[in-house]
Amino acid sequence: MKTEGNAVIRARQVGKSVVGPEGELKILDAVELSVNAGESVAIVGASGSGKTTLLGLLAGLDLPTRGEITLAGARLDRLDEEARATLRAEQVGFVFQSFHLLPALTAEENVALPLELNGGVDAARVDEVLALVGLTARRRHYPRQLSGGEQQRVALARAFVTRPRILFADEPTGNLDQSTGRQISDLLFQLNREHGTTLVLVTHDLALARRCDHVYRLDGGRLREEAAA
Ligand SMILES: Nc1ncnc2c1ncn2[C@@H]1O[C@H](COP(=O)(O)OP(=O)(O)O)[C@@H](O)[C@H]1O
Ligand SMILES: [Mg+2]
Repeated sequence: MKTEGNAVIRARQVGKSVVGPEGELKILDAVELSVNAGESVAIVGASGSGKTTLLGLLAGLDLPTRGEITLAGARLDRLDEEARATLRAEQVGFVFQSFHLLPALTAEENVALPLELNGGVDAARVDEVLALVGLTARRRHYPRQLSGGEQQRVALARAFVTRPRILFADEPTGNLDQSTGRQISDLLFQLNREHGTTLVLVTHDLALARRCDHVYRLDGGRLREEAAA
């Protein structure tokens, strides 16, 4: 249930435009969103509707052209790049649509990296998250030696190894078969239930979207909440 003032993510009148060969392209227009701590939110919409762009803005990876975003109590536009990076490292996990694994690092090295950047690798924690995503036997494999679904699971393990308060995931089941997709969804909601991790998921997977507390649709640059099914 919505309680005012408990928002861990707040977007007000957020717009994003880019300048392309055809002139200005308005990707997002006056987006309003409020996500409370511990909630799960799905963002759906057609390909090219701006879902990845919005997720990047909410996570502080990029800045909007208009409007303001508050993430974990901080106004993102008032932070410089370094402060935003620190906020992300401490509070946020992000699963990219294209994984963004480092090709020269093994699965376990990719997973350990955020801990290293935060000042200390906890080997037991790395073992634990690799087991959670079912990749213990693949831990010494490099990304190119893994299937798309396995790379996606490495990316997910890397995103939650630091126990972030907020987990953003861009089509986290997009490259998985139904059964593996279900396992990954179960894992996301287990984090949500047991650790109160706030989930913001971009997805085409209706089964995954329906498990979320709120479903929003992006259309024509605007975000609207879908009526409950
Ligand atoms: N940096 C950019 N420069 C130019 N166009 C962009 C840029 N980022 C995104 N776009 C365009 O904005 C639209 C929305 O992109 P995206 O957020 O990736 O959509 P979705 O994730 O919903 O498929 C697309 O038409 C895309 O080509
Ligand atoms: Mg996308």
